[in-house]
Amino acid sequence: MNGTFGGLIRTLDGSAVQALAVRLLSEVPGFPPMIQTVHLLGITAIMGSVVLIDLKVLGLAIPSQSTPDVIRRLMPWTWCALPFLAASGLVFVFARPNRYFVNPVFGTKLAMLVPALILAATLQVMSAKNPGLWKEPGAARVSARAIAAVSLLLWIGIVLAGRWIAYADYLFTMG
Ligand code: HEM
Repeated sequence: MNGTFGGLIRTLDGSAVQALAVRLLSEVPGFPPMIQTVHLLGITAIMGSVVLIDLKVLGLAIPSQSTPDVIRRLMPWTWCALPFLAASGLVFVFARPNRYFVNPVFGTKLAMLVPALILAATLQVMSAKNPGLWKEPGAARVSARAIAAVSLLLWIGIVLAGRWIAYADYLFTMG
């Protein structure tokens, strides 16, 4: 396999990182379900923060609180959940790089994750810089709502892709 992923597979295959990930997954009792639970808790934190913020910005949730307050209170959960999601996901990737880096669904998931995080940061900065924008009809609020709509679709896509990683064989012939 050529390209970036090919290089990553060759680097990880047989490496100390892979050996450690394989040992953790195969020798520590209960490690796989524990690490998957960490991933699921991370997903829950994402759903309960940035996705709820997107729904708030679109006027579909939490009518009782102001948008700047919701963003200020909830966004830190997204940033705190990310290292747990990355660590819990990467254990499986390091253990079997040639399973994940050839998996188009995994690639699609990561490709959606980057813009989703950029849009989350953009909404946070927009709100911090101009908390009044949510009350003023105009271009800023329209673009913030467009960002929230795209962000919502991306996070839904990431979750669907996360679940479908294991079923990519049904979608594509890989190898
Ligand atoms: C930050 C980097 C991330 C990495 C490296 C990663 C990696 C992985 C891996 C390797 C799996 C297991 C796939 C399998 O073999 O079945 C997985 C599952 C999953 N991931 Fe992620 N992931 C990350 C972030 C996320 C995020 C941000 C979300 C959603 C908010 C997410 C949602 C899911 C879901 C829904 C599953 C299926 C869980 C299950 O059914 O047990 N992941 N992820």
